[in-house]
Amino acid sequence: MHTKMFKLELFSVLIVLLLNISCSFAGAIPHKTPTSIGNYDYPTGVYIPSNFTIPDGNFYKFKLYLAGFVWHKCNGTSGQWILDQYRSVYFNHEEDIHFYPYSAVAMLDPSSLGVLFYRSAIPKYDSSTVSFTCIGSVPSKENAPAELCLAKNNTGNGAFSDITYIILTEAKGGAAPPNTECGTKYPDGYVYSDVLTATILLYHRGTH
Ligand SMILES: *[C@@H]1O[C@H](CO)[C@@H](O)[C@H](O)[C@H]1NC(C)=O
Ligand SMILES: *[C@@H]1O[C@H](CO)[C@@H](O)[C@H](O)[C@H]1NC(C)=O
Ligand SMILES: *[C@@H]1O[C@H](CO)[C@@H](O)[C@H](O)[C@H]1NC(C)=O
Repeated sequence: MHTKMFKLELFSVLIVLLLNISCSFAGAIPHKTPTSIGNYDYPTGVYIPSNFTIPDGNFYKFKLYLAGFVWHKCNGTSGQWILDQYRSVYFNHEEDIHFYPYSAVAMLDPSSLGVLFYRSAIPKYDSSTVSFTCIGSVPSKENAPAELCLAKNNTGNGAFSDITYIILTEAKGGAAPPNTECGTKYPDGYVYSDVLTATILLYHRGTH
């Protein structure tokens, strides 16, 4: 219970953090709440690990920008950080992050334990959802891993309705400290929180 409350507080820190950043912009740039999910610009220059292969017949559809928190917990006995929980929200443009919560178009559903599940944050305009499992990952020392994920179940009408594959890449943050620091610098049970940003690429079946 105690750690749960701690985590909820950290999530509100994200909101406060993002709101604070946005204050310096909000006065100057008016922002409209988005009415659709997805940035359909081609992901020029976005890094895709060479061993992430999307099967023939699936094509890039759109990209989103992720901002969130990742929590790792130290197991002092094994001296290892265990991925504990994460929260993330998604934006059509990188700069939209500054206008959170008005600018988020989707979220990783935090209530569906064990199932990864993207849900529209603008249900008035888009009712789609997609659940997925990750089938490949390329670890990184300093950042969260790049992931290749396979969609399992699409529902509703909108951007996620026909998604077949998802790639998470260009992660910044979201990794645990070195294992050598678990049980030494950080005590057993310590929950380490880090801000994560990344780009996700979404694919669908079709002809282009
Ligand atoms: C911590 O690691 C030890 C040794 O690997 C393991 O037996 C134990 O179940 C772990 N504890 C938790 C809470 O994961
Ligand atoms: C891709 O390469 C990384 C190392 O660069 C490896 O850890 C991973 O297992 C490989 N395969 C997949 C499908 O991610
Ligand atoms: C697909 O997702 C919907 C909405 O979450 C759920 O009601 C349904 O049971 C799921 N279907 C399958 C086959 O997993």
